[in-house]
Amino acid sequence: MNPLDFSVEELDALFCLADDIKADPEKYSHTCDGKILATCFYEPSTRTRLSFESAMLRLGGKTLGFASADSSSAAKGESVSDTIRIISCYADICAIRHPKEGAALVAATKSRIPVINAGDGGHQHPTQTLTDMMTIHALRGSFSNMTIGLCGDLKFGRTVHSLLSALKRYENINYVFISPDELRIPGYIREDVLEKNHLPYKEVRKLEDVMPELDILYMTRVQRERFFNEEDYVRLKDYYILNREKMTLAKKDMMVLHPLPRVNEISVEVDDDPRARYFEQVQYGVYVRMALILTLLGLGGKVNA
Ligand code: NCD
Repeated sequence: MNPLDFSVEELDALFCLADDIKADPEKYSHTCDGKILATCFYEPSTRTRLSFESAMLRLGGKTLGFASADSSSAAKGESVSDTIRIISCYADICAIRHPKEGAALVAATKSRIPVINAGDGGHQHPTQTLTDMMTIHALRGSFSNMTIGLCGDLKFGRTVHSLLSALKRYENINYVFISPDELRIPGYIREDVLEKNHLPYKEVRKLEDVMPELDILYMTRVQRERFFNEEDYVRLKDYYILNREKMTLAKKDMMVLHPLPRVNEISVEVDDDPRARYFEQVQYGVYVRMALILTLLGLGGKVNA
């Protein structure tokens, strides 16, 4: 299942459950006793895989899986469709990350257990979006009435694509896209998400010009692994570096988010600024993944029932 299939009401319920888990994690520590999460990662990951595993372990469940295509039967030529049929016999729920766009969807159609897309190529990364939204919900209280700037690699950054697809349903959000020409948001997002929903947006190249307007600044890494040649990557990788000086232009209560990993796009000197919320964001990711696992396993009401 793709979490962006959730309605606004279902998302509210998910964040509500995540809030409750955050407030009293002990209460949920045996809700997944006897359940198994499989993490099938055909692409590198630190946060997403480990936060899924941490989420399941904190719910009392167990985990199994692989962390690279080389250590799975993909190296022998097995298809994702076959692998997921096998995993369905071993686990109750599966999180899958794959370099090919659409791989998680293919897996979901062949699976007997819920499949969570943990990133498919440069396409989507819905659980990072849940993490981003949970952070905004916890720190700001609402998704409406704000200006959000998305900066960096908007072409290949799948977290940006997913976040836009989810936020389009909330009112009065102004979008500011900050990127070099080569890394502007892809045409399908522009047409299917922005234009179709009449979302107000502008595109700029210079971060400093828009800094004072932003309530949220969502920084992204230039996605080296999706470039066709290294020269282009090297030319673009340090296009944006958020530093203390640029932060002086921002609102006093602006929030800086980043899906991480960070390379050079946020200087470490910004980490101590109270507006830098990206490490807290990681913690929210565990709570929201706990809530997602419980919901997809039909155990969301177990504690209060
Ligand atoms: C993101 C991803 O994998 O797309 N990372 C993550 O899951 N937190 C962002 C990135 O790799 O730049």
